[in-house]
Amino acid sequence: MADSTWVREQPDSDTGSTSQEGYGNLSMPPEAMLDLAHKAAELLVARSGSLPEEGAWDGEFRRELDDRLMKAPPEKGRPAVEVVEQAAKEILPLATRLDHPRCFGFIPSSPTWPGVLADFLAAGFNSNACTWLVASGPSQLELVVIDWLRRWIGYPDGAGGLLTSGGSAASLDAFVAAREEAGHPERATVYMSDQSHSAHIRAARIMGVRQECIRMIPSDEHFRVDMVALARSVAEDRAEGFNPIAVCANAGTSSTGAIDPLEAMADYCEAEGIWLHVDAAYGGFAAVTDRGRKLLRGIERADSIGLDAHKWFFQPYEAGSLLVKNAGTLERAFAVHPDILQDTVWGANHPNIADRGLQLSRTLRALKIWMSVQTFGMAAFRRAVSRGMELARRAGQYVEESPNLELLTPVSLGVVCFRVNPCDERRTEEALEEINRKVLARVFWEDRAFFSSTLLHGTFSLRMCIINHNTTWDDVRETLETSERFGLEALKK
Ligand SMILES: Cc1ncc(COP(=O)(O)O)c(C=O)c1O
Repeated sequence: MADSTWVREQPDSDTGSTSQEGYGNLSMPPEAMLDLAHKAAELLVARSGSLPEEGAWDGEFRRELDDRLMKAPPEKGRPAVEVVEQAAKEILPLATRLDHPRCFGFIPSSPTWPGVLADFLAAGFNSNACTWLVASGPSQLELVVIDWLRRWIGYPDGAGGLLTSGGSAASLDAFVAAREEAGHPERATVYMSDQSHSAHIRAARIMGVRQECIRMIPSDEHFRVDMVALARSVAEDRAEGFNPIAVCANAGTSSTGAIDPLEAMADYCEAEGIWLHVDAAYGGFAAVTDRGRKLLRGIERADSIGLDAHKWFFQPYEAGSLLVKNAGTLERAFAVHPDILQDTVWGANHPNIADRGLQLSRTLRALKIWMSVQTFGMAAFRRAVSRGMELARRAGQYVEESPNLELLTPVSLGVVCFRVNPCDERRTEEALEEINRKVLARVFWEDRAFFSSTLLHGTFSLRMCIINHNTTWDDVRETLETSERFGLEALKK
């Protein structure tokens, strides 16, 4: 193979040149480039074939990894195929395999192959989706993908947005836009439920909202924000001179999948003149299905919405987005025109996407979404999202019918919260927590599946998030059966 025999000649000093004319020090001949790309593709395809038979988690402790990897950067290089193999065999597999069909922990994800290759192409073309001048094709593609997102969630024509690293960046950009629209008041205050993702607290902090101006509103027994408490909190704050600038709603909490009362929140925020941001990072793509659209009714009335295509739209990380109902709000908040970029100002019809958020240099995220949808078509995506909801529904039914399991919240979107709680006798909450922690640990160490836990207003719960398009009912059922068995065994000890 060209690569294994081809070892670059090394220059003697920082400024030395090699005798290989035609290539810079950091370039490779075409044959070696192809060999290397082929090797990487082979490793990935082999991984995806063997994934279902492996465990959904692998990892190592720090000391061991320090021993293996914590070395000074080498002065001389080595064959590139060897380097790729080391990465693919010794480093990258030490992870939660979030795309494993039995990975149900946190919010898993399972990227399409065209999506993966799109990231490779974008890097290879060295795309920087910052301005129209630098990247007209990528910028246009981002406008296309943002327009698709707009349609899926039912936003009007004048809506716009940008692709972001994820939901965290989307909420930060949304808060900044909200604050600017509110006239950048003193004592700016933001509201979210006690079920909102921690990303929102962080976003508020980054934006300079003081801790005493971040309001965590209690949620009801279904983990939806308590509207009475929200209204009371806003009224009290206004009376004391705080300035409410944004309310965050959840369109699928990460813990239980709960969807806040979006219509009621939209009514309330409209009446009060407060920006409504909907965190649809996880749940938003349900909107591509009929059932999901009904569940998310009201989302289209929000001022801004964050949606992560690296969650339920099957894209590799990072593929978040922020949509705003009024496209101008982002540019009003973020656009700056330094002299060095004066050539990039081509007018409103040729937007510079960098003017809509935090980043100037931006990776091309639109390509993966576009290539995946072009390859498979929306019907396939709709089926894949529906399938997650259907598997979660069946899992909930299985739990309800089992004499050994208890469903702790209604199944919502793809999330099922449950615990082992055999109906033969009553047990204390402490005893149940102990048993279920044991179940979690045994699944983690002994089973092929991986799931995580959460606290439901303080009650320990096992939790499965079922949104992988490769997951089958057998994957779900066997994982529930295993939990049941581990629970019963823990009770016998
Ligand atoms: C509901 C929800 N919102 C926000 C986030 C943060 O998104 P990201 O990790 O893409 O920044 C997550 C992450 O899992 C999430 O589940």
